[in-house]
Amino acid sequence: MNESPPPSEFALRQDLAWSAGVWFAERTDSTNAEALRHPAQELQPGTVFWGLHQSAGRGRLGRRWEDVPGKALTFSLVFPQVADVERLHWLHLAAGCAVAEAAESLRAAAGGGDAATRLGLKWPNDVVEVDEAAPAGYRKFAGILTEVQSEPGGGAEGQRAAVGIGINVNQREADFPAELRGNATSLASLTGREFELRDVLEEVLAGIGRRQRMIEAGDVDEVRAELARRDVLRGATVEVQLPTGAKLTGRAAGLDARARLQVHTATKEHYHLESGEVVHLRPHRD
Ligand code: BTN
Repeated sequence: MNESPPPSEFALRQDLAWSAGVWFAERTDSTNAEALRHPAQELQPGTVFWGLHQSAGRGRLGRRWEDVPGKALTFSLVFPQVADVERLHWLHLAAGCAVAEAAESLRAAAGGGDAATRLGLKWPNDVVEVDEAAPAGYRKFAGILTEVQSEPGGGAEGQRAAVGIGINVNQREADFPAELRGNATSLASLTGREFELRDVLEEVLAGIGRRQRMIEAGDVDEVRAELARRDVLRGATVEVQLPTGAKLTGRAAGLDARARLQVHTATKEHYHLESGEVVHLRPHRD
């Protein structure tokens, strides 16, 4: 049972015309869980739940998402009635683009860090700095977890979705669990300075809002083009673990028109993957 105090309303400094308000809690089990259980009458599309600390943060594939209170930004956007799951996929990926863009602009404003490293997306949910010196070839600084739940009453529009975003903001190497060190980074490490969490939140929400408006209008061309630009897997040899447990090896060939990862195998088979985890990545070198 969740014993966290209920969240209270929080005022953003920026007027994010699209945002439907922010609920804030010092401590919660998981902002995704909060977004999925909050009374429906208090929700609008884009309502945000921000928790300063999560006691049971959720990551992909049933993993935990650990934070260091006050050093990480953990929040979820809720969409109370999702009629079009494909748009939700785009929004999930667009949220990753918004995080990468926000990190780039904070890095440029800070004038620190290595402005040359590429910030991109490792499908389906990691936001990373490409760094061939890292054991994995990249360092992850944010992750996105989108969860969908049927609402009582059901029906085509009876699904609620939470798009949960966890961003490493002020952590230093020693703050990460031993198994993540070397493959994890933070905005502080990328830029050489620390940030107010709410500044990062506002920057990211503004970027999600811009993309969300396009997706809602049925126009995904710009988001698709940005994803192609930020796709760190494109051209790499990847090993993907499928939900069945089977593994697939091939060349990552970008996302298709439905945001699925395309993988071409050596035996000329072409796959379009809706889900899976890239467990090994070897960059393509010309
Ligand atoms: C992943 O990379 O595995 C996804 C991590 C998603 C973490 C965020 S933090 C805010 C939201 N609430 C959760 O419990 N999880 C997501």
